[in-house]
Formats: sequence, C-alpha cells, structure tokens
Amino acid sequence: MSYHEKMMQNIKTKVAIIGAGPSGLLLGQLLAKKGIDNIIIERVSPDYVLGRIRAGILEQGLVDLLREADVSDRMDEEGHVHDGFAISYYGTSYRIDLNELTGGKTVMCYGQTEVTRDLMVARKENGASTYYSSTNVVLNDVDSASPSVTFEHEGESYLLDCDYIAGCDGFHGVSRKTIPEEKRTEFERVYPFGWLGLLSDTPPVSDELIYCKTDRGFALASQRSSTRSRYYIQVPLTDKVEDWSDDKFWDEFKKRLPADTARKLVTGPSIEKSIAPLRSFVCEPMQLGNLFLVGDAAHIVPPTGAKGLNLAASDVSILYRLLCKVYNDGEPSAVQGYSELALNRVWQAERFSWWMSNMLHDFKDDAGTANNLDQKTFERFMKSELDFFLTNKAGQEVIATQYVGLPYPQV
Ligand code: APR
Ligand code: PHB
Repeated sequence: MSYHEKMMQNIKTKVAIIGAGPSGLLLGQLLAKKGIDNIIIERVSPDYVLGRIRAGILEQGLVDLLREADVSDRMDEEGHVHDGFAISYYGTSYRIDLNELTGGKTVMCYGQTEVTRDLMVARKENGASTYYSSTNVVLNDVDSASPSVTFEHEGESYLLDCDYIAGCDGFHGVSRKTIPEEKRTEFERVYPFGWLGLLSDTPPVSDELIYCKTDRGFALASQRSSTRSRYYIQVPLTDKVEDWSDDKFWDEFKKRLPADTARKLVTGPSIEKSIAPLRSFVCEPMQLGNLFLVGDAAHIVPPTGAKGLNLAASDVSILYRLLCKVYNDGEPSAVQGYSELALNRVWQAERFSWWMSNMLHDFKDDAGTANNLDQKTFERFMKSELDFFLTNKAGQEVIATQYVGLPYPQV
C-alpha cells in the first residue's frame, strides 16, 4: 500500500453512488430497502441540493417507485393528481384528457424539491452514509472487477472500494467524463431560446397545467400547491434574469395566456426567478464496465415534455432491479444489459420532448432549424403539426400516451 493510500481512510460498500440529487437518493433508498449496502458521495451541501428549483410533474412509474421505496406519504398527502392538461394554440385551448385518452392513467403534481426532501429524510432515517460537500471525486478502475472512488471530505482523504459505481452526478458531473471520449458517442441539440421561470406564493391561475403557443412565444402555467405557482415564458438566449422585473414578467405572461385565463391571473412578488437553457442530449452507451450513468449524467431533455425527473426515475428503476438480480438472485452478469435497456426508453422521451418543443416554441431566432428548413417553412410545418394533433382524437392520444409516460422495460 503506498504512503498516500496509508494516509487515506479506506472504506468499502457494494454500490458507490455519485450525486445526491433525485437519481442518487432514490437509487440509494431502493437498494437500502433490499439490504444492498451503498454510500452516496455528493459535491455540495443538502441545503444547496434543496435550493434548486426544478419541475413538478411525476409519471405514474415514478409515483409507484416512490411508494415501493416507502417515501410517498407526503406526496400522497400534498401532491395533486392531474387527469388532464391544456394546450393553448394561439388563444384556443384544447384539453388533453389524460384519463380518458389513456384508459385511466394520470400524472402527479408534486415538486421535485419535495421528492428530494422526502428522500433525504428517509436516508437519514435508514442510517445510510452520505458524504456531502465532498471534493476531488475521482472514479478509478471502472472497467475492472474492483472499481473505487477517491474523494476528500471534511479535510480527510477517502478511498472507497466498491463493486459498482452509479454515476448520478448530473450533466456537469465527473461520471460521464470518466468514460473515455473514444468510447462514448454524444448526441445534442441546443435550442435557440431559454425558459424564464418564476415561483410565487400566489394561487395557480388554473387547476391544470396550460402549455401556450403564441406569436409572442411559448408560456407554461404550472403549480407547486394550491398557494404556490410556477410559471415560465420563452425568452431569447441573450436575455438576463435582471432584464426581467416581476412586473415585466407578469405583463408578458398575461399576453401569452388565453384571454379568459389571463383575467384570472393573481400576481405577486417572485420568490425565485431564473433563466434555464434548453437542450436535448444523450450519451451512448450509459455504462462502461461497472460504472453506470443514471439520469442527467446520461441525458438531458428540454422541459417541454416534463420528462427530466421521470427519465431519471426509469433509469433508477432499471439499474435497481438489475442490481437486485446480482445480489439477491445470484445473476452477476445481469447488469451488462443496463445501457441497452435504459436507452430505448430514453430515446422515446427525448423524441417526445424534442417534438413538443418544436411544436410549441417560436423559432424565429433559430438559424438552422431541423433538416435545414428555412425558419418560416419550419414554422408552418410545426403549426400544421400541432393543429393536426390537437384537433384529432388519435393525435391527442399520441400526446397523452407519452405525457403520462411509456411503460418501463421488463427487467
Ligand atoms: N461529485 C459528487 N457529486 C456531484 C459531482 C461530483 N463530481 N458533480 C455533480 N454532483 C452532484 C450535484 O451537486 C447534484 O446534487 O450530483 C447531483 C446531480 O443531481 P441532478 O443534476 O439533479 O441530476 P439527477 O439526480 O439525475 O436528477 C435529474 O434533476 O436536473 C434535474 O431536470 C433534471 O429533473 C431532472 C433531475
Ligand atoms: C414545472 O412545474 O416546473 C413544470 C411542469 C411541466 C413541464 C415543465 C416544468 O413540462
């Protein structure tokens, strides 16, 4: 053992999880409930993780997974089941009746921050180790039978020996970059606009979500509870959040809502306001040896389809069930199928999110739209596409079936 290793605290677990966002915490909770030892290493503090404002639509698959993880009490108490949502098309609203169009499926409206908070409480209760505020996280020998993670925490250096590493460290994490460039293929579309989001303690303008396509650009009316609203408007990438006073936001948001809805809007001071870029991104494969990429570490979707958290959940479900086969059913080779199993559903959600983004946003700022169409021709195609899918039951079924979430693959 080298001098340096002698100075390191040597710890061991079955599954090392990098990142304590929803992916890492949910995987850790599911594994712990099956007696599969795991340690989470997180770069920032718990408060920092909880300070991130994220989406709030949960597919049935994620709702079921949270119940399986025994972390659903508050969701069941405070969450709101939504059996439909609206798409407003130049002021005319079309309700997508999820319940009727999918034979009874719905979505749950419950903030990702609350999901993360519930998972943090559960992890603290089950006593599993989480090293927050860790630095210099390095994944070693991921393509070997004895991978490890080195990191620093509270002034100490650690060497964590493990069987597997779950890279749940998001788009900017270390896990994806640990796969050599020559062994990974990355697919990307960066959109020529962003979403300006505002959180306010005002009653939501509508009981259900409203996605608005207008000549002024996209807008979304969402919510966190009966007293807290989450609203978005499409803005140019050149905009800065300081360009947008609350009053300016409310004025523009009202102009993009259907007129009858705008009249009901209750405005108030923002408690959070930020601009997020939109991107479609996939890394293939989602594993190398005993390193598995999960959630945003492997893929990013534009929020138009509400798929970010839900796609992370299906990755977690697949990896969790494969690891149970390894440890509880004596099938060590089961994990080799992770990437192929996960990618099929990833691409279905990527396409849906890209398709919804193309249909609902204004692309006048886009130099090169899809297939090198000139912008005005692309806009006409997209108007016609949305018109067809909104005014045909079959078209609405296509939207509803994907919005509630396609089935998870059989593991
Ligand atoms: N070492 C340890 N932790 C890291 C590192 C690192 N090198 N880099 C990043 N992290 C942590 C981040 O601080 C974050 O807490 O990994 C976590 C990744 O969490 P998310 O980015 O939330 O990704 P994920 O858990 O996959 O959740 C996906 O979150 O970003 C949204 O829209 C996304 O809803 C989706 C969901
Ligand atoms: C949200 O509530 O933040 C939200 C809901 C639906 C989306 C995107 C964001 O498609």
